[in-house]
Amino acid sequence: MNLEEAYERVKPKLKPARFEHTKRVVETAVELAEAYGEDIEKTKIAAAFHDYAKYRDVEEMKRWIIKETALPKDLLLYHHELWHGPVGAYLVRVEHDVMDIDILSAITYHTTGHANMTLLEKIVFLADYIEPGRSFPGVDEVRKVAKEDLNQGCYLALRNTIQFLMSKGQTIYPDTFHAYNDFARLLNK
Ligand SMILES: [Fe+2]
Ligand SMILES: [Fe+2]
Repeated sequence: MNLEEAYERVKPKLKPARFEHTKRVVETAVELAEAYGEDIEKTKIAAAFHDYAKYRDVEEMKRWIIKETALPKDLLLYHHELWHGPVGAYLVRVEHDVMDIDILSAITYHTTGHANMTLLEKIVFLADYIEPGRSFPGVDEVRKVAKEDLNQGCYLALRNTIQFLMSKGQTIYPDTFHAYNDFARLLNK
């Protein structure tokens, strides 16, 4: 599948603004892939599909999480905003025959992160966070750092995310803490 085909499959599933976001994530992810030596075609497909399930009905996603053994059940204890990553990867596999494990895991973890992230997972996670349409406190610093050190960029993005969620008193999925701790150790924090 090339990028054009991926866009044709993704576009009907997203609102127009979300599709524009998706295209910016693809562009940003390709820049990171070029800088850090990831496969460009895989990067394009993973980024194009990363929000595939963003607008799936919450009850439908809940049913998939309950039914599919590969999907972690603890997702149900956390905000449904997190579900579109893992459920999206599952749906991209069964509805579009995308079997590449690197692509599927990048979709799965694009919102939460997790420990021992692969290069492609880091790229899609960070591209989603820093694409040019994003504007929130600290994003410019993460953009700058991401060009110099991918791990440092992920660390800052995770730290900001955790701080933001905690400031609002929200729950935090454990994989996000695992990712944060992993990068903090890696960077000798
Ligand atoms: Fe997303
Ligand atoms: Fe996204």
